[in-house]
Amino acid sequence: MMNADNNAWSRKHLLGMDGLNREEIGAILDTASAIREVNHRPIKKVPILKGKTVINLFYENSTRTRTSFELAGKRMSADVVNISASSSSVSKGETLLDTMANLQAMNPDVVVLRHPNSGAPHFLARHLDAGIINAGDGQHEHPTQCLLDLLTMQDHLGKMGRDNFEGMTVAICGDVLHSRVARSNAFALRTLGAKVRFSGPPTLMPSRAEEVFDVTVHHRMEEAVEGADVVMMLRLQQERMAAAYLPSVREYFRYWGLTRQRLELTRPHAVVMHPGPINRGVEIATDVADNPNRSVILEQVTNGLAVRMAVLYHLCTGAARSASNIAGE
Ligand code: CP
Repeated sequence: MMNADNNAWSRKHLLGMDGLNREEIGAILDTASAIREVNHRPIKKVPILKGKTVINLFYENSTRTRTSFELAGKRMSADVVNISASSSSVSKGETLLDTMANLQAMNPDVVVLRHPNSGAPHFLARHLDAGIINAGDGQHEHPTQCLLDLLTMQDHLGKMGRDNFEGMTVAICGDVLHSRVARSNAFALRTLGAKVRFSGPPTLMPSRAEEVFDVTVHHRMEEAVEGADVVMMLRLQQERMAAAYLPSVREYFRYWGLTRQRLELTRPHAVVMHPGPINRGVEIATDVADNPNRSVILEQVTNGLAVRMAVLYHLCTGAARSASNIAGE
């Protein structure tokens, strides 16, 4: 839909959305759009990454990202190895760099890293030969989540007969301060010409957000969602907060929960997104999360598999093949 040049992707790593241009984003989305039909075939496998090795190295818990990277590699016939830091020699004191050097000695093509420290994937990319995919680093970036969000928004725009993101309004609401998803989406959506509104309590908003992210900031949720095309809800990232700063859940929902009443302020076609895991009754009401006409939360998960296939394909092959040929191989 973005009519991107599929050859536009020439990077060895995917570390963040900050700095990616429209053509690079379009190349991944086009590949994902072409390859996703593999996931609906009776035999969900193509041989395009046969002989390639992908290591998923997760220092934080994950359901969606880890499962979809594993399935993505396997559906393209790569050898996929999954490592949780908690069940590895990390628990015996091995450093990140030593762990990676040992994995590098087995010559993987790509390492997918989730890590609680912002910048960990960038550090590894400077020291190791394998391609590195950032699967979420601290509160910094989560580029594949952003790309799957963009693919979901692009599908939604397509249903309305629109072929680009120009002028679309996206309200990103909740704990923006600790959200790597909000950061990655703000960078990419501004690159694509969408308008971005951040909304959340002042204590959960990055300082100078307007200047840093080129967004508007709204401390009343009603103002942020009014007339929006997309509402992206964020969970409270309590694992990144000191106990003394945890808000009361009941009070938080009253001011910052996406309810049916607040959803009615959006444009009639607006969709509700959430990177998951959702916390019902905290940042989103159950009837909104499960609204079949508005919630695209599970479509995001489906698109996550396609996007991760596309990213692995580009990084493993240094892809220069046409997107339309990929699924047919
Ligand atoms: N959205 C997301 O990153 O979910 P997981 O933590 O389950 O991977």
